[in-house]
Amino acid sequence: MRQLAVRVAKKRIEAEDVVSLELTPIEGHSLPAFSAGSHIDVLVRDGIVRQYSICNDPTERHRYVIGVLRDPNSRGGSVAVHDEIVEGTILHISEPKNHFALKPAKRSLLLAGGIGVTPILCMAEQLAKVGADFRMHYCTRSLERTAFHQRIIGSAFSDRVSFHFDDGPLLQRLNLPALIGKPDADTTLYVCGPSGFIDFVTKTAGNFGWQGEQILLERFGAQSQSSASDVSFDVRVASTGKIITVASGKTIVAVLAEHGVDVPVSCEQGVCGTCVTRVLAGTPHHRDLYFTDEEHAKNDQMTVCCSRSRSPLLVLDL
Ligand code: FES
Repeated sequence: MRQLAVRVAKKRIEAEDVVSLELTPIEGHSLPAFSAGSHIDVLVRDGIVRQYSICNDPTERHRYVIGVLRDPNSRGGSVAVHDEIVEGTILHISEPKNHFALKPAKRSLLLAGGIGVTPILCMAEQLAKVGADFRMHYCTRSLERTAFHQRIIGSAFSDRVSFHFDDGPLLQRLNLPALIGKPDADTTLYVCGPSGFIDFVTKTAGNFGWQGEQILLERFGAQSQSSASDVSFDVRVASTGKIITVASGKTIVAVLAEHGVDVPVSCEQGVCGTCVTRVLAGTPHHRDLYFTDEEHAKNDQMTVCCSRSRSPLLVLDL
């Protein structure tokens, strides 16, 4: 199964501007397994897919819990989660994917900035469960903006977590050079948070000589989305040679239909796969939940209902 339908079983305010969603299966009692550091793609609104780390205990199979920060610069994703999605909403998500997995190491140093706590918290749960040696440092602007604070202080690993508040006394602020110091071959450093936080950590660690696989990170950045900033591109219909332009704000399938080329559609959200079309040339900008990462990387087929193009011209097998 490439995509799943789940129900929002619980929506909770975790901190100022942060909510969590507990997603449970609609059919059956379990969801595909995940590991610490995994994320899911969530179709939060038509044409808008966002990636969210799963932050519950990775041994759980009955739910995925994600944390979502309201982003004032959001072009629809976090606003939809905060203002439109309610308990009972059915969402389409991908199966869990992990690009930020724990590596075997004698010691792990976990560094979270803001909402970057979500994968880090899952890692802490996992490491605590297997009795591993780790420390977690969690930096936020204030206690009020510290998501999952109660969960952490009530956890079995609370004594291994340090909180650092920007508005708190100087002594409790994160002293990164003192914390990281010289590279230690037995320690792996994990960092997740806003770009500025990650850059600060990686630069500091790099200055001390940390390198390569000793520092693992996950950035939260712009994700696939439909927006007014989409640029136009051309599509060539291979069978006729006809070239048509897909303007910003229009979908490939709609423009094809305007020119008499009908591609069957169903969900029109990149979920069902009905509109999958072979790509003969060019590079698609995938925005679907249907294909796996490996299939996306091949760039030889795409969902023309929602995906766009990274190259000026796409040649489609139509
Ligand atoms: S119509 Fe469902 S993926 Fe395009």
